[in-house]
Amino acid sequence: MAGGGAVVSKSKQEYPGRLTPFVLMACLVAATGGMIFGYDIGISGGVTSMDPFLSRFFPSVYRKQQADSSSNSNQYCKFDSQVLTMFTSSLYLAALVASVCAASVTRVAGRKWSMFVGGVTFLAGCALNGAAQDVAMLILGRVLLGVGVGFANQSVHVYLSEMAPARMRGMLNNGFQLMITLGILAANLINYGTDKIAGGWGWRLSLALAAVPAGIITVGSFFLPDTPNSLLERGKADDAREMLRRVRGTDDVEEEYGDLSAASEASRAVKSPWRDILRRQYRPQLAMAVFIPLLQQLTGINVIMFYAPVLFKTLGFGGSASLMSAVITGVVNLAATLVSVFTVDRVGRRALFLQGGAQMFASLVAVGALVGAKLGWSGVAEIPAGYAAAVVAVMCVYVAGFAWSWGPLGWLVPSEVMPLEVRPAGQSITVAVNMLMTFAVAQAFLPMLCRLKFVLFFFFAAWVLVMTLFVALFVPETKGVPIEDMANVWKAHWYWRRFVTDVDDAQNGDIEMGNKNSSVKNY
Ligand code: BGC
Repeated sequence: MAGGGAVVSKSKQEYPGRLTPFVLMACLVAATGGMIFGYDIGISGGVTSMDPFLSRFFPSVYRKQQADSSSNSNQYCKFDSQVLTMFTSSLYLAALVASVCAASVTRVAGRKWSMFVGGVTFLAGCALNGAAQDVAMLILGRVLLGVGVGFANQSVHVYLSEMAPARMRGMLNNGFQLMITLGILAANLINYGTDKIAGGWGWRLSLALAAVPAGIITVGSFFLPDTPNSLLERGKADDAREMLRRVRGTDDVEEEYGDLSAASEASRAVKSPWRDILRRQYRPQLAMAVFIPLLQQLTGINVIMFYAPVLFKTLGFGGSASLMSAVITGVVNLAATLVSVFTVDRVGRRALFLQGGAQMFASLVAVGALVGAKLGWSGVAEIPAGYAAAVVAVMCVYVAGFAWSWGPLGWLVPSEVMPLEVRPAGQSITVAVNMLMTFAVAQAFLPMLCRLKFVLFFFFAAWVLVMTLFVALFVPETKGVPIEDMANVWKAHWYWRRFVTDVDDAQNGDIEMGNKNSSVKNY
């Protein structure tokens, strides 16, 4: 099919236009989708470490924790409860299902309505959680929040990459991650504050305040312009051209418009992207869509993000000190993400992945050794304050390593390697795998800590080693490579080339994977 070939084999170029304030505002509003995700990540660990919350909803965990609070008992197991864990992780299971459904809403109704649906559902979840009277209300609330997160994660990524001028796509993508970290930090700070509210209802405020970013995205999405791509996809060609002029701030958009409409035709010609992405020629991209989010979660990052206060309590910190330590890791997370925003297009993806991996490996081994040396197998010990502070410091080194590597790149790389015709399906796979693994790690962590003890940190260290080798061997450098030229990256790769070199001759000549005449650069 000619349209597909014309688009995909387009040579490297930049379209006229600039980042207009209009687009910047639209992207800022959309990126609050990252903030609602981040807020959820950060909030649950804090409230589950608050006594009034625990005694009301999880009395058996509370009693066990009280009984175990002396240093004569096993610290590793004091929070191990499947219902408590379910409170945290139910959200991600709901988000998984929602992200798959969101793909259709995003395509048929437009990106902004997907964000709107996400925002409204999320608000309902906040209300249920803030007013919760029993565990069922809490979990139902989390499920609604999850649906909101699923819709937002699916549609916002698509929205941002369609609105952004091509050369700023990477930066704006990392901006989404920055919003996630801002949401996590806000949650940590709010937990620290609400914990001090006399009367023990602070947790309600923590849970209900998620309505603030949710309100922004709900109201904002109402006013957000639709992307030119989405308008075209829904047959509104004139509106699409007009919108493109507005978002690029120039009338000189014919070239980009031509490519967009060809691209839209090409993607319409692909009847079943879900089946297409399974074809041999898309094996490298499919591998990235599955393995990168899977491995991102096996760094163990959410052990810190969800359970930092609980973990710090396990290490013998007092309630307030635990929440403060979570604030510290939150600040480090945000600051280190900024490093990535400004370096990713200069030093490249691989350098950040490899450096971050080495740093996470070393710090996880160090945390495991420090915890093991004090708590040992029995989990019975008094940990001196200075020692616990050293553990927090090493954890910060670990968080920084994640925040400038696997954090943002875990979202950026799978999305930028996807060719247009399978991009929506690819993005859904990435979100779904991420949510599934987030659920699995959240669900497994407390029982694993109870059984594996300090060895759990070595377990994650081993995975970090595996993923660093994976990057070294299988992830090509994509810095500065226009999406249209991405096919050459695979053709030049020692392993992936076997899947793509014969593609130009493949019988399904409707989608050409690259420019036959372009020289294969070494990526
Ligand atoms: C991950 C989240 C994680 C967050 C931490 C994101 O990229 O997908 O699971 O909690 O980074 O900043």
